[in-house]
Amino acid sequence: MAIRNITVRGSEVLAKKCKPVKEITPRVRELCLDMIDTMHEADGVGLAAPQVGVLKRIFVAMPYPDEAPDKVYVMINPEITFEEGSQESCEGCLSVPGYMGVVDRPERVKVKALDIDGNEFELELDGFAATVICHENDHLDGILYADKARDFMTSEEFYEKLNSEAEAGADE
Ligand code: NI
Repeated sequence: MAIRNITVRGSEVLAKKCKPVKEITPRVRELCLDMIDTMHEADGVGLAAPQVGVLKRIFVAMPYPDEAPDKVYVMINPEITFEEGSQESCEGCLSVPGYMGVVDRPERVKVKALDIDGNEFELELDGFAATVICHENDHLDGILYADKARDFMTSEEFYEKLNSEAEAGADE
């Protein structure tokens, strides 16, 4: 296993549509394991293959970082099969370091995918966990949250804004 370099915004590979995985070869498995290591090393909750320069439909995700940090999923050829409701999600991305923004996401999703052994599984997620899956899945279609975010700004500005809004709320 190895840590791979994370590609940053501006690189063409992040704007391309990824191809489905036809066969889960040892090389694909190695990629998945490297992606998990790379996600942990970068302190992220998700990482998609194009972020390490590979145009395949694969991402890894840790949708419950506080409650269940051991739940790390490898999703190969993922497909969102159901979406419901809406939520505003505050997001950042390992490929857009130092920035944050607000994105409209569904409140609840179902996603099906193959695991690292090629077994199909399905998850139902809501709240933060749903946003993680949607964010990573977007990467596979060449979409960065930054392309569709409101209030896209540096993390510093973002937290200042949140704090001043909280203070304004407290005065009311
Ligand atoms: Ni991202």
